[in-house]
Amino acid sequence: MNSTHLLLKALKGEEVERPPVWMMRQAGRYLPEYMVLRRKYDFFTRVQTPELACEITLQPIDIIGSDAAILFSDILVIPQAMGLEVQMVESKGPFLPRTTTTKSEIEALNATTADDHLQYVYDAISLTKKELNNRVPLIGFAGAPFTILCYMVEGKGSKAFDKAKQFCFSEPKLAQSLLQKITDVTIAYLKRQVQAGVDCVQVFDSWSGLLSKADFEIFAKPYLVQISDALSPLAPVILFPKGSWYALEDLSTSSASGLGVDWCLTPKQARTLTNNNITLQGNFDPNHLLKPIHEIQKEVKEMIDAFGPQKYIVNLGHGILPNIPVEHAKAFVDAVKNYSNL
Ligand code: CP3
Repeated sequence: MNSTHLLLKALKGEEVERPPVWMMRQAGRYLPEYMVLRRKYDFFTRVQTPELACEITLQPIDIIGSDAAILFSDILVIPQAMGLEVQMVESKGPFLPRTTTTKSEIEALNATTADDHLQYVYDAISLTKKELNNRVPLIGFAGAPFTILCYMVEGKGSKAFDKAKQFCFSEPKLAQSLLQKITDVTIAYLKRQVQAGVDCVQVFDSWSGLLSKADFEIFAKPYLVQISDALSPLAPVILFPKGSWYALEDLSTSSASGLGVDWCLTPKQARTLTNNNITLQGNFDPNHLLKPIHEIQKEVKEMIDAFGPQKYIVNLGHGILPNIPVEHAKAFVDAVKNYSNL
């Protein structure tokens, strides 16, 4: 691990000459080079073939110049490794033909042997670390237990995940046993990612913002904290409970090294809520990348000024969208690299 990497310095709270920058979903459909591989191989072939996952992971490093790589994979490899079929349906997203809502379905999920199905992830990490040759750090990741439960119960993407929430509220004990099982598998999975070479890990709680604060305390927070406590002695942890602004204050004193924030909160609000205790990551609205380049440059500068350049990782507030022009993504990254000169 090279301690001069900006990302790792920012996560430790060490002083940096400028903040590091990467983009969630930086390997994806806005890149023509990704589309070439997407036409040739289906989604899980791309994910499960270490050479392809490595090549896709490196694309945004070479093309956009991000300061960190994030492994090309998906959060849904965990339900898959626990024995569920997961399909990625063209223009619809994930589909799980068999959902998980009963005691026997939860008991049937395999927790102890899940890791045997994930060797391809560790192989992709080793290969990617070798190919990166220490140019930039590699971020590993997993979905947070609540977000994984959402897909396991609902069986597909949803705007409100009503079925998943209703399952939690009508069968809280069952929901908690499912969340605990996912947590145990996720901790083992992230530990193996660190052993294989990732420099830090991010936990995506993409749907936690659908919960009230009280429900977050029951169905999301305890599991995020377990994961963070188990991993933080091994590598820095970034928690991204999207939309859960009410959780930032509590999580700012957790074992995590960084917290992700979305654009529904101003940088100042995020700093105030976290008492400037922790490194923050975010929060550019990915749709703003469609604005003219000079406006992107201006907004990036304003965002860095508002968060402050220390204890800060520049990122979007959620994943980049497929219709973003590559030059605009590159302008975002370059605006950060030129920060002091702008
Ligand atoms: O950030 C990166 O570049 C690393 C790769 C990555 C992917 N998925 C690749 C992917 C990461 C970190 C994820 C995480 C993920 N996957 C999340 C959490 C982050 C978020 O966006 O909220 C979620 C909820 C998923 C589940 C998932 N996977 C959905 C809902 C979809 C379909 C939506 C879409 O964008 O098409 C996927 C597919 C997926 N995962 C793609 C990529 C590049 C698109 C696949 C394709 O069409 O080529």
